[in-house]
Amino acid sequence: MENNSNRNLTAATIDFAKVRKDFPILAQEVNGHPLVYLDSAATTQKPQSVINAVADYYRQDNANVHRGAHALSDRATQNFEGARSKVQCFLNAAKREEVIWTRGTTESINIVAQSYLRPIIGPNDSIIISALEHHSNIVPWQIVCEQTGATLKVIKVNEKGEIDLESFHQLLDENVKLVAVNHVSNALGTINPIRDIISAAHQVGAKVLIDGAQGAPHFEIDVQTLDCDFYAFSGHKLFAPTGIGVLYGKELLLESMIPYQAGGEMIEVVSFTGTTYNKLPYKFEAGTPNIAGAIGLGAAIDYLQQFDRQQLISYEEHLLDYATNKAQAFGGITLVGTAEQKTGVMSFLLDGAHPHDVGTLLDQQGIAVRTGHHCAMPIMEQFKIPGTIRASFSIYNDESDINRLFVALEKAKSFLI
Ligand code: ALA
Repeated sequence: MENNSNRNLTAATIDFAKVRKDFPILAQEVNGHPLVYLDSAATTQKPQSVINAVADYYRQDNANVHRGAHALSDRATQNFEGARSKVQCFLNAAKREEVIWTRGTTESINIVAQSYLRPIIGPNDSIIISALEHHSNIVPWQIVCEQTGATLKVIKVNEKGEIDLESFHQLLDENVKLVAVNHVSNALGTINPIRDIISAAHQVGAKVLIDGAQGAPHFEIDVQTLDCDFYAFSGHKLFAPTGIGVLYGKELLLESMIPYQAGGEMIEVVSFTGTTYNKLPYKFEAGTPNIAGAIGLGAAIDYLQQFDRQQLISYEEHLLDYATNKAQAFGGITLVGTAEQKTGVMSFLLDGAHPHDVGTLLDQQGIAVRTGHHCAMPIMEQFKIPGTIRASFSIYNDESDINRLFVALEKAKSFLI
């Protein structure tokens, strides 16, 4: 799952030119140039089938779920719960009750922080994260530490942007209650050795949360084989709408947790003599959910599942290799993050130029990249840089996009340096 062993494979049967046409937004000009979208780590574009699924819901079925005694509500509920079953298959979760709808990875992590960890952690305990985390997998744990007196320990990352497993093993002891690491770094693209981390953490009795925001879009995920305790991801990085995401959790852990938010749907009986909570997954789904978003996520999974995922993975690896080779040949580019195991992300500096200035000049040529710290300030601090230029690739990109990026970089270089 997390290795790049098939580097030599390029797509044999998937027609990637056709894939690109599935994404209507890409057929536009920006600043007088055909759009080249290289910011999929921030959010992916949406295929027509996902746009249709969301529009069809509002056009035909819009109603609240689990509530109405009428046909529209029945249809909305069926589609909404059907999408949950699709996520269950996508993750290979043992039960659909283990799939909780959230607003996205950030909310999923906050639920684990406040509903799972906070009640069971104390001043003698600790949480382990890595130096490679997104702020959403740092700050929730800092808050839990402030609330409980627990300690936050940070796994070192080497100069290539790889987790130092020796440093991880040194931090591990019986007082570690949770290890929370990302599957793939959003800032550098490093694929982390999550299987090793999960199994080592379990040996000391710690639970493991995987931030899968950048993992789920690129890999086949099998939470049972991984044996992670929690896996979080966002729909919008997986070709689905914004505002919908998933928290997968092992049933026993979810059962043991207190609700995160209170309100409608998450209750069984409400009385002034005592309120009881709903069963899983609804205990964690207070209020009217993002019904259209969930249905859109189901459609995005359908879209992905029509392809051989291994071919998609190989294609993205090919794009990354192609871009990396061009960057190395360019002269005056410093790659930031050169891990052996990488996917989908090329973070770099144009020597002598500020990333924001480069980003602006690329945008003027129709090229969309992200610049800055990528919500991962600690790893930028380690590299002693304010940020990078990040080109991130998806299945709708091709070599011509990468060629355009480097032509535009030549122009930026001639302006700025
Ligand atoms: N986390 C998203 C990114 O990496 C927004 O750009």
